[in-house]
Amino acid sequence: MKKIIAANWKMTLQKENLAPLVEVVKQANLDELETIICPSFTHLSKVANLIENTSIKLGAQDCFWEEKGAYTGEVSAWDLKNEGCQFVLVGHSERRRYFAETDEIINKKLLASLVSGLTPILCVGETKAEKDAGQTLTRVAEQLKNDLIGVAARKEQIIIAYEPVWAIGTGDSCSPEIAAQIHSLIKQEVKKDIGIEDVIVLYGGSVDDKNVNDFLRQNFVDGVLVGGASTKVEVFSKLLANSI
Ligand code: PGA
Repeated sequence: MKKIIAANWKMTLQKENLAPLVEVVKQANLDELETIICPSFTHLSKVANLIENTSIKLGAQDCFWEEKGAYTGEVSAWDLKNEGCQFVLVGHSERRRYFAETDEIINKKLLASLVSGLTPILCVGETKAEKDAGQTLTRVAEQLKNDLIGVAARKEQIIIAYEPVWAIGTGDSCSPEIAAQIHSLIKQEVKKDIGIEDVIVLYGGSVDDKNVNDFLRQNFVDGVLVGGASTKVEVFSKLLANSI
């Protein structure tokens, strides 16, 4: 299986930054890598145009669980699908933290994304306090159990991103060996909870051009979810080159 490089551009870019960054992905070895770009909502259609006729995939950073209705400010999974998205991040820790997204909300978004035809990339991970208290595995298992309620009966693909909260945007990444151990446990939990054999698991949290290969070399690491390093032309270009 090709390793997955998913770029989470968050709310960090301007319109003029999009084309140069997409060009970097186009120059990468796309025979070896599966690339997914997750721009902000307002940049989706521009990026969709830029990646037309390439193997680069489009993802959104969030979705709402109803198909349509009086939900001011929200964007439905179905609209995202119509916009050209194939993937959607669900339960990113910044959504959990700044928008008070609970496991219940995340579960609704995840199910909606499946029904709409999007592949969810479910983000899970422990905080610094949970890590220090030795609760990493129990926290991740609890998130998986609650976020994946109702998924066992469905057949669509899901992707999990293990993103320790303390590693996101801090430059303090998880050690690749420990990440691999946690990925292995995530695969076991997902098999136990919803019967999916060998679910795809990405690592996210301060992945950059220097450490990307250390992660991708590990067993159980099927790819990476990259924030900051995917928003700078030179760094992202090196990161993609070093991913092979
Ligand atoms: P980072 O973000 O690579 O900047 O740490 C990762 C993410 O939030 O998905």
